[in-house]
Amino acid sequence: MSGPFTVAIDGPAASGKGTIARAVAERFGFAHLDTGLLYRAVGARLLDGEEPVAAARALTPKDLDRPGLRGADVAQAASRVAVIAEVRQALLDYQRAFARRAAGAVLDGRDIGTVICPEAELKLYVTASAETRAARRFKELQASGGDTTYEAVLEDVRIRDARDSDRVHAPMTAAPDAIHLDTTEMSIEDAVARAVALVEDRRGA
Ligand code: DC
Repeated sequence: MSGPFTVAIDGPAASGKGTIARAVAERFGFAHLDTGLLYRAVGARLLDGEEPVAAARALTPKDLDRPGLRGADVAQAASRVAVIAEVRQALLDYQRAFARRAAGAVLDGRDIGTVICPEAELKLYVTASAETRAARRFKELQASGGDTTYEAVLEDVRIRDARDSDRVHAPMTAAPDAIHLDTTEMSIEDAVARAVALVEDRRGA
C-alpha cells in the first residue's frame, strides 16, 4: 500500500487511547502525536498568566517538554483553552501536516477523526466508563506520588468530559465512520491487539 496512512484515535481522558496510539505507532513504525499535549502546553501558559490565543500562536516544541504538563490543574486549563476557536485554529496546520507524513502517523485526541483528519484511513473512538477511567488515572497518580482521592479524580474526569463534549467548536465526538472500542471490560493488551488487527486489515485492503 502506498501513500500516507493515518490512524485517528479519539476519546475521553484515560480511555486507553494514548496507550493504544503509542503501541500502534511502535508496531508499524508510524509517527505519533499526542494532541492533548498541545492543549496542555497552552493551558500551562494560561496558568502562567498568558493570553491563550497568543500562547497557542507562539507555541514551540520546547513547550511540549516542560515539566508538569500531565498534572490535573494543567489538564483542566487545557480543557478550558480548548473551547476557544482561535486556539484550535492556531494548532490546526501543525496537526494536519503531521497526520499526512509519508511514513504514516497516529494522532490521538478529541477531534482527530472529525476535524483534523476526516480522511484518515482508520478511525477509532475509544471509551470506558467514567468510573473505570477515574480508577486508572487515580492509580497512575498514586504511583507517581500524587496526593489525591479517587472521588476528586472522578469529579475531574466528569467536569472535563462535559466541557470537552458540550463545547461548540470541534466537540469530542465519534466520527460517523469510527470504530468504537469500549475498554471498560477489556485489558489494554486486548485493546491494542484489536487496534493492530484493524490497521493490518485496512492496510491490506
Ligand atoms: O488528551 P488530554 O487529556 O491530554 O487532553 C487535555 C485536554 O485538551 C482535553 O481535556 C481537551 C483538550 N483536547 C482537545 O480539545 N482536542 C484534542 N484533539 C486533544 C485535547
